[in-house]
Formats: sequence, C-alpha cells, structure tokens
Amino acid sequence: MSTASLLILAGDGIGPEVMAEVRKIIDWYGAKRDLAFDVSEDLVGGAAYDVHGVPLADETMAKAQAVDAVLLGAVGGPKYDTLDFSLKPERGLLRLRKEMDLFANLRPAQCFDALADFSSLKKDIVAGLDIMIVRELTSGVYFGEPRGIHKEGNERVGINTQRYTESEIARVARSAFELAKKRGNKVCSMEKANVMESGILWRDVVTEIHAAEYADVELSHMYADAGAMQLVRAPKQFDVIVTDNLFGDLLSDAAAMLTGSLGMLPSASLGLPMENGRPKALYEPVHGSAPDIAGQGKANPCACILSFAMALRYSFDQGAEADRLEAAVNQVLAQGIRTADLMQAGDTAPASTSQMGDAVIAALDASL
Ligand code: NAD
Ligand code: IPM
Ligand code: MN
Repeated sequence: MSTASLLILAGDGIGPEVMAEVRKIIDWYGAKRDLAFDVSEDLVGGAAYDVHGVPLADETMAKAQAVDAVLLGAVGGPKYDTLDFSLKPERGLLRLRKEMDLFANLRPAQCFDALADFSSLKKDIVAGLDIMIVRELTSGVYFGEPRGIHKEGNERVGINTQRYTESEIARVARSAFELAKKRGNKVCSMEKANVMESGILWRDVVTEIHAAEYADVELSHMYADAGAMQLVRAPKQFDVIVTDNLFGDLLSDAAAMLTGSLGMLPSASLGLPMENGRPKALYEPVHGSAPDIAGQGKANPCACILSFAMALRYSFDQGAEADRLEAAVNQVLAQGIRTADLMQAGDTAPASTSQMGDAVIAALDASL
C-alpha cells in the first residue's frame, strides 16, 4: 500500500484522550505490519474556536478534503453552550460532513462476546448481535431550508425542514444494499411514511432501487417508531437498517446500549470515490465529548479504536488487519480489562484509558 494520509481531529473533552490511544495503534501498524500512515493533526470544535474563533478553519476544511481519511474524536462541551449557534463546536463537525458530502454513515452495533451480559437487555437477546445502521448524513431535517428562529406576532417560532431529494435517498439506499450483500443480505428501511411526505418518497425510492438493482436482497419497511421498539425487543432480526439523518441519530444511540456502552460504538462516514478510488471518509466514535468524565483518564477508547479498524477496512482495503484489531479489542474485554463504563457490581478497579490502549497493543503483539 502506498503511504496513506490521515488527518486527526481530536476535538474536545475526551476526544484527545481516546485519540491518544489510537495514535499508539497507528504507530503499531507502522512498526509491526509495515502499514505506514502519513499522519497530520489539526483542530475542530471548541478547540478550533479557542484558537481561530470558528469551529472549523477553512484551512482545516481544505486539509480534510485532501487526505485519504479523517479520524475525529469528539466535539462540544459546556464551555461552548452559550456561543452563537453558527459558532458552536457541533457546527464544525456538520460542516465536515456536508462539504465532504459524507452521505452514508455506517454505525455497526456488534455485541462483543465478553460484554453479552453487560447490556441493559437480557443476554440471549443481544449475544451474537451484529447489525449495521446506515444513517443518511448530509440532508434531511439537519440541513433542510427554511430553518431558523423567527418572530411571528408576539412569539418566536423555531423552524426546521425535513427535505429529501430522490437522488439523496437513492444513493444511501444503494450503500445499504451493497453492504447487505456482503453481510446477511437483508435491509430494513425505516421512515414515517404514515405521517411524512418525505417518508412516502423514501419508501418509494428504496422500493424502486431494490426492484431495479437489488431484487436478490431481502427488503422490509418499518415505521421508525416501531423500528425503535423492535430494536430493543428483538434486535437480532435486523441485518442492515437504512434510515434518515435524525432517525438514524436516535436509533444508533439506542443500538449502542445493546452493545453495553456508548464507549464501544464506532462509525464510518463515507462519500463518493476520490480519484484514487477511495471513498471520501471520516471515522469517528458515535459518542460525544463526555464532559462529565473528561480529563480523568476514565474514557473508554474502544469506540475510537474500532473506528480506526473501520478505516482499515473501508478506506485502506485492509480487512484482515481490521479483523485483527477487532479481535484484539474483544480479547482485552474477555480478559476482564475494562474501563469504568463497563464495570459491574463486584468488579475490581477499572482500567484507565491508557491502560486499555496498552492492553489492546499487547493483544495485537500476541496476534503476530
Ligand atoms: P456523550 O456521548 O458525550 O455522553 C453521554 C454519556 O455517555 C455520558 O455519561 C458520558 O460520560 C458517557 N460516555 C460517552 N462516551 C464515553 C466513553 N468513550 N467512555 C465512557 N463513557 C462515555 O453525549 P452528551 O453528554 O449528550 O453530549 C456531550 C457533548 O458532546 C455535547 O456538546 C454534544 O453535542 C457532543 N456530542 C458530540 C458528538 C460528536 O462529536 N460526534 C456526538 C454526540 C454528542
Ligand atoms: C452524532 C452527534 C451529532 C449529530 C452532533 C454532535 C452534531 O449526535 O454524531 O451522533 O447529531 O449527528
Ligand atoms: Mn448522536
């Protein structure tokens, strides 16, 4: 593999803490597997605001467009809560997603064997769980116009618009069908076609793409509220779920708890292929900056480490190395080495963020 370029945007709160562990893993791949990455670092979110007065500088945006993949930690925090909406840390992340056109957000929820009895659901409901939520990421109510807060007579009105074009639905549907073909060959599409016109169009377009291009994949449809219920009632019925931006945000946080902790859930945000054939890509944990535990060495780095595993798989065609890294995480958990979010009554002292990272490195060494 020619040297691949990575831009690290560690961000705020626990972002830099979990990213420090990913740096160890990247260095390990360079030293032990001859997978060299050309790594650069920059600022996003509150960290960028503190230096540049904006949550994402134009130069950083340009760098993100130019690299093979971006790794992001997390953004946000109470220090920035009172900022003007356009300057909030979260706007930096949304700008990256929109301008890189990262329309397909892959959020896998896998229950690692060692954590099967840690989920808030019964063990037999989650053991062996392996589902993939494909969330549309660059449109819908997050970006639709008109939007804003206006005065109407004596009172203020808050407006956001759910808007989807056919082509936006079609391209994320294709991503979901393509993924399903490599997995369990099933797609469940979720919307609210019973109350929303955008949901009716969503269902129509997914059905058309399916009939024309993917008739050999099993397709079902669910209203997103019923889908949320099914996700916690019997999650193993699903293989790939495809849904819009807002429903996907909610459903993937719920799916995180099936796996035991938000600290376990990685994600990949993919766009169109670049000239070198790689998709535009940003990898980030599903969790946020966790202000309640930031700076204490308590954060679980697994979601961020597993996001790097997704980068190996989806950007760098290193599926076997991604498998190796995921197996190393599973092994560490099986050894009982766990951060505080994965502690149960009677457990001994939790591992710190860096102890967890070191344990993954040791498991990687043992895999050679
Ligand atoms: P959060 O995900 O930061 O935290 C929710 C809960 O999960 C907290 O109790 C936290 O301690 C715990 N948690 C999260 N990640 C963990 C980890 N790796 N290890 C152990 N425990 C972990 O969500 P929130 O509190 O709603 O949001 C805090 C800030 O993060 C907000 O500003 C929000 O906008 C932002 N946020 C950013 C992203 C992102 O950068 N992609 C995602 C979600 C939220
Ligand atoms: C996520 C987050 C983001 C979202 C925020 C921080 C903009 O919750 O990545 O899930 O709502 O998409
Ligand atoms: Mn979210």
